[in-house]
Amino acid sequence: MKASVIGAGNVGATCANVLAARNFLDEVVLLDIKPNYAEGKALDIWESAPILGFNTRVKGVTNDYSATAGSDVVVITSGIPRKPGMSRDDLIATNAKIVKSVTEQVLQHSPDAILIVVSNPLDVMTYTAYLTAKKPSQKVFGMAGVLDTARYRAFLAEALDVSPLDIQALLMGGHGDTMVPLPRYTTVSGIPVTELLDADTIDRILERTRKGGGEIVNLLGTSAWYAPGAAAAQMVEAVMLNQKRVFPVCARLEGQYGEDDLYIGVPVKLGRNGIEQIIEVSLTSEEMALFKESVQHVRSVMSRLSDLIEL
Ligand code: NAI
Ligand code: 2OP
Repeated sequence: MKASVIGAGNVGATCANVLAARNFLDEVVLLDIKPNYAEGKALDIWESAPILGFNTRVKGVTNDYSATAGSDVVVITSGIPRKPGMSRDDLIATNAKIVKSVTEQVLQHSPDAILIVVSNPLDVMTYTAYLTAKKPSQKVFGMAGVLDTARYRAFLAEALDVSPLDIQALLMGGHGDTMVPLPRYTTVSGIPVTELLDADTIDRILERTRKGGGEIVNLLGTSAWYAPGAAAAQMVEAVMLNQKRVFPVCARLEGQYGEDDLYIGVPVKLGRNGIEQIIEVSLTSEEMALFKESVQHVRSVMSRLSDLIEL
């Protein structure tokens, strides 16, 4: 089993590192356009194998897509991250071109690969990869919900002083400030979180989650990478090991939730075929209104695509 990660920057290298350390792949290939950058990162990760105890070979290459040939899954992280004061949507002009060209090159060598997009603005970059790849949408999807939900679970675990593993949660909508919180679908080992925390505390945690990406940008001057890289790796694992995990994933809606031809975060089942099911949960009228607001936001960013790249 082989995975490739395009972009050996903060998120890409972290994803490759987590994938290697999980020790379920034969090979991980890291590719970047910066000369020697992926080679250096891959070598450093591989040198941790004797310490961490994994066998997965890690190889770095400069723009040599032949090394990615035969990948089962390819994670696309190439592109610029935001700086303080920028929104994810400000990245579209640069990243749309990068995601399109990377997708074309990946598929020349791995036509059957499942694509997991990470580059921002996430929902629209995933749509870009889908339009470029001309593959069934089950095999092209994006990572955001696993990260957003992980942030939410981490904040709840702190507030409750419990293990983050025991917090199960769901967030929907676009990756950004319009994500849709669903405290009704949040439990602590089956106990509704609404029985354990008061409404104000839950609201504060949801607000922090919504702005979780920005919180890190303000601290570091660039966007997060440890949790995003791990989140993408967890999705690769769910696919490669056919785990049938249920995660919020940026998926193409084809009638579900009353939307068509739109990539946005919804709960799905991930297995060896990629997205094996989009799960339609019931939403209250208030939750649906928030979801539709998020839909409008993603569609407005999408509408800029045709001026930027040939689709
Ligand atoms: P980074 O700047 O550390 O790494 C990006 C890498 O992409 C650089 O090494 C660059 O040389 C490479 N690159 C640029 N053009 C390329 C091309 N045509 N082919 C191959 N490689 C190319 O940025 P970082 O922090 O790793 O973020 C990457 C992207 O992921 C950004 O767009 C960021 O906004 C996004 N992101 C998305 C998240 C999500 O939840 N979906 C979470 C965190 C970041
Ligand atoms: C994040 O949420 C920047 O989308 C990235 O950290």
